[in-house]
Amino acid sequence: MPQRQLPMIALLATGGTIAGISTSGGGYLPGVRPAEELLDAAPEIASLARLRVRKIAAIGSEHMTDAIWLRLAAAVNAELADRSISGIVILHGTDTMEETACFLDLAFLPGKPVVLTGAMLPPDRPGADGPANIRSAIRVAAGARAQRRGVLVVMNGLVHRARDVIKADTAGLNAFHSPFPASIGRLAGKGPVPSWVDFPRPFRNGLRLAGISSLPRVEIVYGHAGERRDLIDAAVRAGAAGLVHAGVGAGMIHRDARPALSEAIAAGVVVVRASRVWRGAVAESAADEDRDLASGLVPAGGLNPQKARVLLQLGLIGTKKPHRIRDFFRAYTAGIGHGGAG
Ligand code: SIN
Repeated sequence: MPQRQLPMIALLATGGTIAGISTSGGGYLPGVRPAEELLDAAPEIASLARLRVRKIAAIGSEHMTDAIWLRLAAAVNAELADRSISGIVILHGTDTMEETACFLDLAFLPGKPVVLTGAMLPPDRPGADGPANIRSAIRVAAGARAQRRGVLVVMNGLVHRARDVIKADTAGLNAFHSPFPASIGRLAGKGPVPSWVDFPRPFRNGLRLAGISSLPRVEIVYGHAGERRDLIDAAVRAGAAGLVHAGVGAGMIHRDARPALSEAIAAGVVVVRASRVWRGAVAESAADEDRDLASGLVPAGGLNPQKARVLLQLGLIGTKKPHRIRDFFRAYTAGIGHGGAG
């Protein structure tokens, strides 16, 4: 009887610690090892899938750029269109993984699994997590359960939605966390993914990248005690089409910074009100002191500032109208940021 062929997974490498090399000073250089070398450390992958490897970049993800995002999106698009490919795994540095995942989640509604993974330790350190993470990501990408789920992040045995996941620890192997709703799947043993919660069909967006060669400039301004207006003014002067204000608490903004945001809005800059707090949502404000600003501010819902920035960038491709951008935020963030521990 002919043997069933293993699924073909496209492995797109962008760099990160998962491809790092330790240096004599105790540090390491991210993104240096070729993906093929990483696969040698996890030989059991050969029984899960056939792989087609493609290098997109070789960077530490702190150096991620819009240009690399667009190159990655073009590669994902090509792999999605290729009938021989069952799923896509993207190797990525962990520092901006949540942003890249969110960018791809907003840019595509893939029928095939698209899964990002990385590592907190370079492959030559004891206890390196890269081989297990690649193996888990390939298991998820090769399985039917991950189809039509939007873009996923698999780290440390958990499956997260791109929309919900954050990096919540600078160093621990369990750095990735979905505050609310919680991660959607857990990997254990060698069999098919054993526990996986269902969730509503992902956001079908109107955000399209076709024909785009650059993304609108959007800056984040961080709120704090003693905040002033100068950085907001500087961002507008530098040509930002959008601003995300990472306010305190539920997105509150210092009185000394507010006039700058009002003027930015009057000048046509779209301003999103987010929060620097890691869990919970920013809603439309009913506060008296917000009367001057509130109608011009787009609430980020449960998206953190860095993901709100991505959604604003993509939203601004099609419109500069705050009410339309507000609709994108409402649709994408429905159901995040409320509830208890996750
Ligand atoms: C990076 O984000 O590229 C470096 C850190 C990591 O991958 O953990």
